[in-house]
Amino acid sequence: MLTPSYITNFDTRQLPRHECEYVIIGSGIAGLYTAYAASQSGSRVILLTKQAADNSNTDKAQGGIAAAISTSDSPELHLEDTLLAGAGLCDREAVRILVSEGPDRVRDLIGMGAHFDYKDGELALTREGAHSRRRILHASGDATGAEIQRALTDRVRRDKNIQILEDHLAVDLLVKENVCHGVLALDRRSNDLKVFWGKAVILATGGLGQLYEYSTNPEVATGDGIAIAYRAGAEVMDMEFIQFHPTVLSLSGAPRFLISEAVRGEGAYLRNRYGDRFMTRYHALAELAPRDIVVRAILTEMGITASERVFLDLSHLTPDLISERFPTIMKTCAAYGLDITRDPIPVAPAAHYMMGGVKTNLNGETSIHGLYACGETACLGVHGANRLASNSLLDGLVFGWRIVQWVKKYGVDYCPGRCYFNCDRLLSQPSEVNYQSIRKEIQVLMGQYAGPVRTSQGLIKALEKLESYGYIARYEVSGPEEIEVRNMLEVGHLVAEAALVRTESRGGHYRMDAPQPVERWLKHVIIRR
Ligand code: SIN
Repeated sequence: MLTPSYITNFDTRQLPRHECEYVIIGSGIAGLYTAYAASQSGSRVILLTKQAADNSNTDKAQGGIAAAISTSDSPELHLEDTLLAGAGLCDREAVRILVSEGPDRVRDLIGMGAHFDYKDGELALTREGAHSRRRILHASGDATGAEIQRALTDRVRRDKNIQILEDHLAVDLLVKENVCHGVLALDRRSNDLKVFWGKAVILATGGLGQLYEYSTNPEVATGDGIAIAYRAGAEVMDMEFIQFHPTVLSLSGAPRFLISEAVRGEGAYLRNRYGDRFMTRYHALAELAPRDIVVRAILTEMGITASERVFLDLSHLTPDLISERFPTIMKTCAAYGLDITRDPIPVAPAAHYMMGGVKTNLNGETSIHGLYACGETACLGVHGANRLASNSLLDGLVFGWRIVQWVKKYGVDYCPGRCYFNCDRLLSQPSEVNYQSIRKEIQVLMGQYAGPVRTSQGLIKALEKLESYGYIARYEVSGPEEIEVRNMLEVGHLVAEAALVRTESRGGHYRMDAPQPVERWLKHVIIRR
């Protein structure tokens, strides 16, 4: 039986209604930059974000933003590296657009006041895994995301065409005859439902890292955009491809804090508990091998050495380099008693980035008219089966921009507000469901069975367990925690289903029972209700 399209009872005629040309959901780089681009073209924008505007994955990004701007680099080299990392599943045209339009978008960010680091009068560029050139711009050493978030949030807050509504959580999309007219949202402060009609509704809600117990993502990353699009009937693609980051602080009592790949880019070594520098045994690029390879090598070493962690050793780098390039990591580790110029950093892998998402074309259009997606929420094949490090911030800029250019030229006026939507008393009043414990159970389950190493048996177990929560679909949700858990269940299913279907290993999807890539599987898994 299909679960209902809506998760709460409502009637749009009885709710406060707002209307705008663009309704954008999400306030990371993709949402903010798209709002800015729309406003530049004279349009009015409402931007909904479920907590504070700066509570996003973007804000946490450390390594940087990749762009072929150096004279020793070129978009062609960036394209080749991206295709190689994507393990055969990248859409070549999408990548061509990313690498060729990317430098202009980055210059735009600089023009808006984002301060990147400079060396000898030139933008300082670092390297990360699987990049053949130094092409990663960074800010305040390892606080690139925070600087981009600051610059964009400041800019958007000052813009008269843009209204940012914080504490507004999208509940469901309002779609009729495959046209999206708007979004139903919950104002968390008043607990009221509100309707936002828009000619273009843009999903930029980020990823789903919170599906896993160990994640680099903030609490807000619960896959909301993907879940609501799927419930509304949109196609989702590549949901099996989740990137785990190899090096996240693993210290009891400390949060799972990201230790940027740029640390390895600047020369740090990975060692097991016996001090053995093991990556040279696994890949010619050693510590800078593609992330999935480093993750599996770490898990193997953790198994062999019966340890819950491995160690990142920076002791051969100069203290000056470390403090200049990684001030945030240094400070955070120091708070837990680690002097990273001397002490090895205990690390383990954690969920980091979703390559899949709401299927879009090169202009951000989804399979529903009037509904667009960009950033981590979207999937247009630009990252293939495995994203190249530091391509994600760039993706948010380039494809957010393209949505606005498209809507300006071809956006259709669907007369939002002329129709009404309801879900009248179809759902029962909430009963005693312990959403907090379900959230925790989902996270453990996904880590155990749909993490970096999967088997068909494990995935079936995961699906059976997720299915056992099916009963809650009968109840209407009445608060943000419940909405997030419902969304996590939705996207958890999609990840496990797609991972079960793909009987091979490729990029971020590794099946122990089918460990090789298979030619026949050079295709995408697309799911629709
Ligand atoms: C990092 O700093 O290691 C993360 C960069 C990325 O995921 O692109």
